[in-house]
Amino acid sequence: MNLTILIVMAVLTGVLGSPYVTDTDVTPGSDSAGMSAHPNSVPEAADGTEVFHEEGVVEEEGVEEDVMATGELNPSHYPAQRAANVVKHYLNTRYGSPYRWVGLHKVHSANAEEVAESGRKYHLEISVQEMTGNTTEKCSAEVLFPALENQRSPQVQASCEALLTANTTAQEEALYQQYRRNHTLLSGHNLPDSYGHIDPDMKPLWHLGGVASSFVMLKESTENTLYNMAQVANVTQLETENDQLRFNYHVLLHDMVSQEIIHWKLLVTWSPAEGVKVLQMEELPKCEHCEVPPKPN
Ligand SMILES: *[C@@H]1O[C@H](CO)[C@@H](O)[C@H](O)[C@H]1NC(C)=O
Ligand SMILES: *[C@@H]1O[C@H](CO)[C@@H](O)[C@H](O)[C@H]1NC(C)=O
Ligand SMILES: *[C@@H]1O[C@H](CO)[C@@H](O)[C@H](O)[C@H]1NC(C)=O
Ligand SMILES: *[C@@H]1O[C@H](CO)[C@@H](O)[C@H](O)[C@H]1NC(C)=O
Repeated sequence: MNLTILIVMAVLTGVLGSPYVTDTDVTPGSDSAGMSAHPNSVPEAADGTEVFHEEGVVEEEGVEEDVMATGELNPSHYPAQRAANVVKHYLNTRYGSPYRWVGLHKVHSANAEEVAESGRKYHLEISVQEMTGNTTEKCSAEVLFPALENQRSPQVQASCEALLTANTTAQEEALYQQYRRNHTLLSGHNLPDSYGHIDPDMKPLWHLGGVASSFVMLKESTENTLYNMAQVANVTQLETENDQLRFNYHVLLHDMVSQEIIHWKLLVTWSPAEGVKVLQMEELPKCEHCEVPPKPN
């Protein structure tokens, strides 16, 4: 799969190399034409978790060069994709559950403006995909990346067509009761495993890990990052407290820009009534030789 995409990209680069020279410089004053040899576009994938496993497709300098573009942006280039992914994380923190995990489907349009003193604001029209039910819908969103160093988390506003109307109440209640009633506390590791496989029983815990990771990724995102949850290294259920199921998660996040794999430990609670909360998040020391696990099947 990875190899196939790399080959396709290599062919595209070879065949379409020169048209990109004239194509990319849509913004006056933008440097984007400079990276013409590498079409700085993000491969689209229906499942947002799969987008960023194509190692080496994009040159890092290309990623950097595009950052300060303003005005109308190319929807498939990194600045638009980075801002759109922040919207995805935001939606997960608001509406996520083991049965509602939002991925980015497509960026339709994007533009960026400098907002005096406060930072850079992106206006986006995107489609998001709810990955457990496989439904797609459109959202309008604004993302403000604050200019101040000490105020790093982006601020997001979003309105989506129908995300909230998907009624997962029955599934959530059944899962909650199942996890609660079981005398054995659940645990799992390597979701997905090194073959990209996830046991069907473990999928809700993988989705919950993805939603919980969005809390970290929303908080940590800047205009220079592009995070993706790569793997749940392990998850352990703790004793239920105050009707909230509790889990310790160890997740691997992948930053596409720096190509770093970053380990985080999270204390996550969930109940249908209260939703997903991340009570503690701890970044672990950098991992020198970690590899990106394969994407899930
Ligand atoms: C999701 O839906 C799209 C279009 O309806 C379809 O092409 C795709 O195969 C579906 N994906 C999954 C994982 O079911
Ligand atoms: C969702 O479905 C449950 C029954 O499964 C029902 O009680 C509830 O009112 C529904 N909620 C909405 C918002 O439609
Ligand atoms: C209870 O947990 C055990 C161990 O994880 C698992 O094998 C079993 O299927 C669970 N039972 C239910 C009803 O979920
Ligand atoms: C979870 O995975 C991490 C990374 O592989 C490992 O360091 C840690 O010991 C594991 N924790 C448990 C409880 O298995």
